[in-house]
Amino acid sequence: MTELQFTLNGSPRRVADQPAHRMTLDWLRAQGLRATKEGCAEGDCGACTVLLDRGQTRADGTPDWRAVCACILPLAQLDGCRVVTTEGLSDGQGQPHPAQTAMAEQFATQCGYCSPGFVMSLAAIATRPERDDDSLMDALAGNLCRCTGYRPILDAARSLPVTQPRPNDPALDAGQQDRRTTRLDYTAPDGGRFVAPTTLDELAALRAALPDAWLWAGGTDLGLKVTKDGAHPPTILSLDRLDALHEVRSTDDGGLVVGAAAPYADMLDRLAALAPDLASYFRRLGGAQIRNIGTVGGNLGTASPIGDSLPALIALDAGVELIGPRGRRRVAAADFVTGYRQTVMAADDLIAAIRVPPPTPGSRFAGYKIAKRVDQDISGVSGCFRIAVADDGTVAELRAAFGGVAPRPLRATGTEAFLTGKPWTRETARAARSAVLEDISPISDARGTADYRKAVAANLVERLWHDTAGQGVTRLEAL
Ligand SMILES: Cc1cc2nc3c(=O)[nH]c(=O)nc-3n(C[C@H](O)[C@H](O)[C@H](O)COP(=O)(O)OP(=O)(O)OC[C@H]3O[C@@H](n4cnc5c(N)ncnc54)[C@H](O)[C@@H]3O)c2cc1C
Ligand code: FES
Ligand code: FES
Repeated sequence: MTELQFTLNGSPRRVADQPAHRMTLDWLRAQGLRATKEGCAEGDCGACTVLLDRGQTRADGTPDWRAVCACILPLAQLDGCRVVTTEGLSDGQGQPHPAQTAMAEQFATQCGYCSPGFVMSLAAIATRPERDDDSLMDALAGNLCRCTGYRPILDAARSLPVTQPRPNDPALDAGQQDRRTTRLDYTAPDGGRFVAPTTLDELAALRAALPDAWLWAGGTDLGLKVTKDGAHPPTILSLDRLDALHEVRSTDDGGLVVGAAAPYADMLDRLAALAPDLASYFRRLGGAQIRNIGTVGGNLGTASPIGDSLPALIALDAGVELIGPRGRRRVAAADFVTGYRQTVMAADDLIAAIRVPPPTPGSRFAGYKIAKRVDQDISGVSGCFRIAVADDGTVAELRAAFGGVAPRPLRATGTEAFLTGKPWTRETARAARSAVLEDISPISDARGTADYRKAVAANLVERLWHDTAGQGVTRLEAL
């Protein structure tokens, strides 16, 4: 197949002349659709936000429209989807979308760079009947405004009626659904390929035949290699159509299985059911546009020392399920990353799923992300804990993990050993400082000095005490 097919603002489009790594934003602007702006070209500012319908429906049967960043979304990934840009929001008869009206009426329209992106995020919010201020702020956190005009934008969000961005076209929509269940193999005129297999066997065969291909999940990490480093992958192997990697389900024993290619947004409700603090922790990973498309599999695949998933998964004693030519195997999350940007995976291994066991009796999860901003920022230090306190007030169980304080996210076994069995008091939490410092070996970089990181990591144990045994700490509330 050498053609991509999707609908853009309600019109069918066929594209055959674009490189396989062409980003949606560049193509849109070349089409003259210039309301979608380029602010950063790295998923950070939201100026390029568009709405994407991948043919999934929500519980109420409405299409699952999602805000995504066009700057790091390959055009080929639109195949079989519906896309709406700011230009496509009005009803075609001169009436603006309620999001556009709300922005004007609440005096929320400011610079022409950010406003279209805000409008698109509002249009995504408008499809959701269930909203509160927290979810509205979550939905807007991926849109940066440098002139600090968030309050009227939040007012605009509060005033939105429930609205779909486009009417459905049953004939067209059915055609798209069919398309998305078949393998996509797009070959660009320059020979670059974008292949989206539908079975794991197909994927394995493609990987064996194309060892230089890039394995592409959400592309929120890899996309930057294209837009920032100018890299041109010979072939992109997309995990987007592999249902086997998208499953998110609770297990009979109260645990959780998350397919490696399921976007974060698909797992937040289940995480909240497992532990409310777990969902809050993951809600601070990127902005909504990133969580709508980025995946845990991709986060582990980067093996970043400041990746947010692994500290939580280590604290939860999760397992990482791998598939490779030698079969399936499971490794403990704590053992997955072996060194700086290194993992236990062989070159032809695939992360299939993450398995989170049920919470141990009486235990509680707490996850802390310390960054320069509350929203849409990479961690300087993160600390995640699973703690159970016995009736006599001693620490019955502790699993502790830190990110940003060593070449890899690590399990703090010394801290665990120090605290287990001791009375869970502020004094013991403070005394754990030396054990924490033995466990970690931070460096200084743009996000903080080594001394700062040491202080923060040790303080997080004390904060854990405040949150589990003390009065809690005052949390920084946005807006
Ligand atoms: C604006 C912005 C904000 C961000 N904020 C955060 C943040 O707060 N915290 C954080 O931790 N990260 C953050 N990130 C980084 C990124 O979003 C995450 O690491 C994300 O989880 C990557 O997932 P992905 O599906 O997009 O990965 P991709 O970019 O598709 O892939 C990343 C790597 O993993 C490999 N890979 C993907 N899936 C698999 C698989 N199933 N098996 C084996 N290898 C695989 C790929 O080949 C690639 O090497 C941010 C990124 C952006 C652009
Ligand atoms: S241009 Fe900034 S997020 Fe895409
Ligand atoms: S709206 Fe663009 S900087 Fe605030």
